[in-house]
Amino acid sequence: MVNLGIIGTGNMAGAHARWFQAIEGCRMVACCDVDAQRAAAFAKTYDIEGVYSDVDEMLLNGNCDAVSIVVPDPLHHPLAIKALKAGKHVLCEKPLGLNHAETVEMRDMAEEAGVINMVNFTYRNSSAIQKATELVKAVELGTIRHVHANYLQGWLVHDYWGDWRKSKNWLWRLSKAHGSGGVINDIGIHILDFASMPVGTLDSVHCKLKCFDKEEGKTIDGYDLDANDSAIITAEFSNGALGSIHTSRWAYPHENSLQLHLFGNKASIEIDLNASYTSLKINRILGRQAMGWETLDCGQTPNIPERFIRSIETGNQDQPDFARGAEIQAILDACHQSDKTDQTIKIH
Ligand SMILES: NC(=O)c1ccc[n+]([C@@H]2O[C@H](COP(=O)([O-])OP(=O)(O)OC[C@H]3O[C@@H](n4cnc5c(N)ncnc54)[C@H](O)[C@@H]3O)[C@@H](O)[C@H]2O)c1
Repeated sequence: MVNLGIIGTGNMAGAHARWFQAIEGCRMVACCDVDAQRAAAFAKTYDIEGVYSDVDEMLLNGNCDAVSIVVPDPLHHPLAIKALKAGKHVLCEKPLGLNHAETVEMRDMAEEAGVINMVNFTYRNSSAIQKATELVKAVELGTIRHVHANYLQGWLVHDYWGDWRKSKNWLWRLSKAHGSGGVINDIGIHILDFASMPVGTLDSVHCKLKCFDKEEGKTIDGYDLDANDSAIITAEFSNGALGSIHTSRWAYPHENSLQLHLFGNKASIEIDLNASYTSLKINRILGRQAMGWETLDCGQTPNIPERFIRSIETGNQDQPDFARGAEIQAILDACHQSDKTDQTIKIH
């Protein structure tokens, strides 16, 4: 039995609790939030015995083998380092850190500690992206020449997730001083992982980031609204393919819309998570004839929390690990540098 503690009991922590509750061989034994009332309510909802408002205390007395870190982005690095020092297996929310240097330190420390480490690139929970990756590996698409990927949200325009002007949960995401790297670090990170999982790593990027005015005075309750909220990336992948990857929080009526198109010389693939997490469309070329779109059922895939628990049980580190988190963070850093300099940036 893996004893798990959850650090942070805000919005996303509910999803973590429901995932872990459903996993055989895992028991949630502790939770922690600086907001003690929120932690207590969370513990009650998910039947968790140990309730803490201090991470050090939970790591010391919480009886956890593993922790799931679900706090705002600037705290991922310091809290993961604490947990690794305490010898815990760590699942950390994305982005793994605020920059590549932080994530390299986390990766190296996790490797040294010899613990299981994973980052929650949630959209890998779609069996469609797992299947697409298998098909690319099996060269069923031939050589991929062109990639088009987008992740679109519209909550700056529309209130389906509540009024962002009235909630800290949304305000910190819009403010650099509160550790936000903007839309690109918040959800652009998912589409970068999603696109490069099947195609392979990126060699270079050219990126334009934009922060649009959204409130008079550009500040609300001490949150300066200065983080980017739209991003366009042109990318060259290591296999030579070109990619166009974009993301925005202005894309009403999209709520949470993620799409990937891969164009190879033997077949093309389309994944639209709005339509399905468990199927993709493929169009094969025979001779020089396109055979038409065929829908492929991709079955089921374990979600990342399940992969995390199974990795702890077996000792076999599954993906996406901290090394992958650091690889993606290098791309994000390159995007910010490209935006600042208006240059194409090579990714090291
Ligand atoms: N993988 C995904 O698809 C996905 C989706 C949403 C959010 N996220 C990530 O999850 C993280 C949390 O997002 P959220 O929407 O739940 O934010 P949130 O603001 O709703 O919750 C964060 C919680 O962390 C608590 N907290 C702050 N400092 C703490 C500390 N030192 N110790 C313990 N608790 C502390 C806050 O009190 C709050 O309850 C973010 O990094 C975000 O990027 C990931």
